[in-house]
This record gives sequence, structure tokens and C-alpha cells, in this order.
Amino acid sequence: MQSAPELDLTAISDQRLAVSRQLGRPVCIRQGSPTAGDSVLAEAAGLLSGSFALADELPGAPFAGEVALVTGGASGIGKAIAQSLHERGAAVVNMDINPAVEGLLPGPRYLGIRIDLTDESALEAAFLRAGQAFGGLDMLVLNAGIFPPGIRIEALGLEDWRKVMSINLDPNLSMLRRAHPMLKRSPRYGRVVINASKNVLAPGAGAVAYSASKAAVTQMGRVAALEWAKDGIRVNMVHPDQVFDTGIWTPEVLQARAAHYGMSVEQYKRRNLLGVEINSRYVGEFVANMLGPMFEFITGAQIPIDGGSDRVI
Ligand SMILES: NC(=O)c1ccc[n+]([C@@H]2O[C@H](COP(=O)([O-])OP(=O)(O)OC[C@H]3O[C@@H](n4cnc5c(N)ncnc54)[C@H](O)[C@@H]3O)[C@@H](O)[C@H]2O)c1
Repeated sequence: MQSAPELDLTAISDQRLAVSRQLGRPVCIRQGSPTAGDSVLAEAAGLLSGSFALADELPGAPFAGEVALVTGGASGIGKAIAQSLHERGAAVVNMDINPAVEGLLPGPRYLGIRIDLTDESALEAAFLRAGQAFGGLDMLVLNAGIFPPGIRIEALGLEDWRKVMSINLDPNLSMLRRAHPMLKRSPRYGRVVINASKNVLAPGAGAVAYSASKAAVTQMGRVAALEWAKDGIRVNMVHPDQVFDTGIWTPEVLQARAAHYGMSVEQYKRRNLLGVEINSRYVGEFVANMLGPMFEFITGAQIPIDGGSDRVI
């Protein structure tokens, strides 16, 4: 039996770039032949071999024909980001360990991949699947993360430290490395948003591994902004404060933290200068806007999404 030819993501991205330039707008390109339910862009038919261009489901939408990859988008903030990007017409690839990722959004512009991001070989296969489905990448959102139970430094073992780094930090290097050739060939320009945390600016006692992992991924993003500006790729960071409608915050944890500060849950949720509660929908919309034209000339920026904070440490 003849084995399938190796998929070359750089070559596919080049093909997508060439077709997008000819058509004067970004298009998604799927490898293989169309199946029922696929709507093919007739204008591109003569330009492609062994693949076809998907027609825009939402013509005129800001991200029509563009491809976004979100990590950790089965729940909480990542889910809201995936939804906001999908609503703006992007094809969305969502990678998460939670099986709920697979059927999260409807239609041909969504590919949910169940994956443990700490597994390098699974990550390689996931990138190939994404490349096969949409032909390239324009937007990368590094969001997946865990917030472990509080442990003070004197009690924290290396195993617990490494576990946090292995999820919150290490896979992001692999994601950036694998995404770079595709982002560089984005028909408009490549962009990355990293969801770090307000812990970078105001770390939390009992959260040294989490705070350090988020500070490290922020530095990774800043270096990427330096290295990739010449490729037209923008890399920016967000630092949300507590976002309660997420998997990280169970009702029990919320109750305990509020009690710790002698506050009601409602008071605790709004303990910032503006007295507002930040929810995942707000962060999702904010990140989608950062990926749009308003941030075209911005790279290496860090935006707190926290209702205002007067904390220094
Ligand atoms: N909720 C907050 O208060 C808050 C504040 C600031 C920053 N953040 C950051 O936001 C990001 C999203 O968290 P959230 O609050 O939405 O929580 P969440 O638990 O709802 O979402 C995290 C997602 O990451 C996924 N994930 C975890 N480990 C994974 C792995 N090994 N492989 C693949 N997927 C994995 C989970 O399955 C989950 O869907 C995290 O990086 C978190 O640190 C959260």
C-alpha cells in the first residue's frame, strides 16, 4: 500500500498565500477533495491542485478567510476567545485536553482537537491536522493553563513546580516554533496573543510556580515580538485579573477566598479600582479586537484587564 505523502505546512501556506493574493483577500484552503457540506470557492478552482478553497460563510466579516488557533479553548476564557473569533468569520482550530473541545462550535469553520499539549508528538500531529483543514495560520492565541492549589515556597517540591511549567510554559515554545512558518505566510500579517495573568504584575503569595510560569511566558512573548517583527508578526500579551466564570474558579474556592479577605463573594468579585467584575466574554471580545486592525501597529504590549489595580507587589 502506498503511504500518504508527507504534508508540508510551509508549502501549503505558500499555496494559500499565492491564492489569497490572486483573489485579493485571505482564503482557507483544505487539502483533498470537497465533501458534502463543503462550499468551494469557484474563483480559486483553477489555481489549486490537490486542494480547494472554502467559500466564506460570513462574507465581509472582519476575519473571513482567516485561520485562528486557540489553546485551552474548551472552557472559560479560551472558549470565549474561540467564540469571539468564530463570530468574526475566522476558521478556528481549538486544542484542549477536555473532550468537550471536539463539538464546541458548529460548521466547517471549526476544528476541535483533543490533545494534551505536553505531548510533543501529539502536537506535531495536531498541527498537521490543522494545516490540512485550513491551509495556514493567521492568529495564534496561547491560553491553556492551570492554576494549582496554593503552596508556599518552603513547602513546594520540584515535581509540583515542573508540572505547572510543563503546561503553562513549555508547550507555548513548541506552539510558537511550529506556528512561525505559517504566521510568516499569513496573507494579511501574523499575530499572536498570549493570555498571561495579572500575577505577572502583582504576584500572589502561595502561587510561586503559577506566577513564575506566567512571567516566563510573558518574556517569551516579548522576545518573539523582537524576533518576528521583521516577519510582520505582532505579539502581544494580556494580563487578566480574576475571571470567575471559568474552570479555575469553583464556587468553593471563590467562597473561601472571599472569606479569607472578610468579604462577601459579590464584594470580592469587584475588588478593583473601578469596582467591576471581569467575565470571560469581555476578555474574549478584547482579545479578538487585539487580533484585529486596531492593533495593526502594536507589538510587545502588555495589557492588564483588571478593572484597575493599585497593587505594586
Ligand atoms: N480565570 C482567571 O481568573 C484567570 C486570570 C488570569 C489568567 N488566567 C489564565 O487564563 C487561561 C485560561 O484559564 P481559565 O481561567 O479560562 O480556566 P479554564 O480551566 O476554564 O480553562 C483552561 C483550559 O486549559 C485546558 N488545559 C489545561 N491543561 C491542558 C493541557 N495539558 N493540554 C491541553 N489543554 C489543557 C483545560 O482543559 C481548560 O479547558 C489560563 O492560562 C489561566 O492561567 C485565568
